[in-house]
Amino acid sequence: MPARVHTVAVIGAGKIGELVLSGLLRSGWPADRLLATARRSARAEELASRYGVRVVDNLVAVDEADVLAVAVKPQDAGALLEEIGPKVPADKLVISLCAGLPTAFFNRRLPEGTPVVRVMTNTPALVDEAMTAISAGAHATGEHLALAEEMFKPLGATVRVPESQQDAVTALSGSGPAYFYLLVEAMIDAGILLGLPRQVAHELIVQTAIGSAVMLRDSGEHPVKLREAVTSPAGTTISAVRELEKHGVRAALLAALEAARDRARELASQAD
Ligand SMILES: NC(=O)c1ccc[n+]([C@@H]2O[C@H](COP(=O)([O-])OP(=O)(O)OC[C@H]3O[C@@H](n4cnc5c(N)ncnc54)[C@H](OP(=O)(O)O)[C@@H]3O)[C@@H](O)[C@H]2O)c1
Repeated sequence: MPARVHTVAVIGAGKIGELVLSGLLRSGWPADRLLATARRSARAEELASRYGVRVVDNLVAVDEADVLAVAVKPQDAGALLEEIGPKVPADKLVISLCAGLPTAFFNRRLPEGTPVVRVMTNTPALVDEAMTAISAGAHATGEHLALAEEMFKPLGATVRVPESQQDAVTALSGSGPAYFYLLVEAMIDAGILLGLPRQVAHELIVQTAIGSAVMLRDSGEHPVKLREAVTSPAGTTISAVRELEKHGVRAALLAALEAARDRARELASQAD
């Protein structure tokens, strides 16, 4: 059965929920098979007028939708499940987009046997270039994973991972766009330090980032090989690489991603 015959409700349509909603609409998911919920009425009106979907109460969404995509902050998930948990029929698929929260967190608050799929996507979903990692909870079958994939494939790439790897995924690709933006911001500043106009520095770095990313994806080459091709003996690049190594950029990234992974775990323990 094609996934589009299912009605999907985005529960807590904030930043990520809106990305999912707009991505599904762009992919041709019928608007009358999409529902959204919001906590504030101003937000509900905004979503309804922007996307032409029905914005309903959480319990109406539980009643009408086949798939419940939960996109609230991890710290709000407990209260939400207190409200809707007992009312969710065990044949509905619950898709969690919440960073850190294990599927067991949901299963403890949902009727016995409810299938839960844990998904970690990222903000490039806005331009259909998301990276989405999908994991099955205890009661989710291959069919549930396939349905989640069908929802998220039009938004970019998808990968299946064991749930035990999801906190690492959160640190790498969930938060990942922020690291690239920080790098680009710093490189634009460097361009300004070197006397370039801000707009020129911006254009140079953005296109360099796009070109490098496309080469990484399409050449299939290891990043070391691609970097070596730009690093000639006694050239300019190796002088820059020496400074990056001297300032511990590699070690900083290892520590940063470990911190993000630990924060995902901490959020889960606070929500419990
Ligand atoms: N942002 C990212 O890049 C990113 C990436 C991957 C995963 N995630 C995950 O996605 C989830 C959402 O993050 P976000 O950045 O989209 O947060 P957000 O913008 O705050 O969105 C959450 C939305 O849920 C609403 N909400 C909270 N409790 C509710 C309830 N009981 N009923 C209905 N609506 C409710 C909030 O309403 P209010 O507006 O009233 O607060 C808010 O609009 C998080 O679990 C996060 O870990 C985020």
